[in-house]
Amino acid sequence: MDPMSSGLPLGVDFGGSGIKAAPVDLEKGEFAAERVRIPTPESSTPDNVADVLEQLAAAFPDNDGPVGVTVPGIVRHGVIGSAANIDQTWIDTDAAAVFGEALGRPVEVLNDADAAGLAEATYGAARGQAGLVLVTTLGTGIGAALVHDGVLVPNAELGHLWLSLEGYDGGGKHQPEAVHAEGWTANSIRERDDLGWDEWAGRLTVFYRTLERLFSPDLLVVGGGVSKKADKFLPKIDIRTPIVPATLRNSAGIVGAALAAQRAHGG
Ligand code: BGC
Repeated sequence: MDPMSSGLPLGVDFGGSGIKAAPVDLEKGEFAAERVRIPTPESSTPDNVADVLEQLAAAFPDNDGPVGVTVPGIVRHGVIGSAANIDQTWIDTDAAAVFGEALGRPVEVLNDADAAGLAEATYGAARGQAGLVLVTTLGTGIGAALVHDGVLVPNAELGHLWLSLEGYDGGGKHQPEAVHAEGWTANSIRERDDLGWDEWAGRLTVFYRTLERLFSPDLLVVGGGVSKKADKFLPKIDIRTPIVPATLRNSAGIVGAALAAQRAHGG
């Protein structure tokens, strides 16, 4: 790897299926070396994930910068507060301490959607946007980041809102009165239930109208792997707020994590 990347922050994205890392050039908001991916251990416990982190750090032997790690759950001052799609033993674990000890380097831990939000606000679809931006990631779960004038308000768990279905036309099918946003509109649900783009966009309309009503955002950014097919569903979401696909896609988590690490521990 390029020795020039020695002092750069290392971004790590801990997801349900893979743990990915790359040193990041923060001037450009881009990877400074090719990303390395290791499958998430079947039992994604803190010890097992810390082992993977050591392997990932070893893949960039010249890199010695601060490390940023995303986690798909609530993160308060390095401590994990929820674990919707990862091993339950993460709850109440001081992830920053566990990873810091494993790596012998300063580590900043943040929620995965917060990392994506930071990256999109700094380098991507919400760059330069004044006011309130809500970045949502549609994947296995639904992640959300609330960014106001470029400043992140962490741990907005908007995927766990309950949505009222009053007035929702479910195509004649019986509907419950309210649904759990993530359990009804995540991309994993679209895939599991084989929903067509129209039906999924109808559900997303309910979700995003709820966010509009509660937050009056200036811009909505939609991330997650499915955002590369944005043309299939974004134009069908019937809301008033401008809504655009994320532009960093796959790299947002790693870039946002590296940025957070540099801000917290960089010289
Ligand atoms: C978690 C969030 C996370 C999101 C995306 C949700 O189930 O509660 O913390 O950001 O999934 O991974």
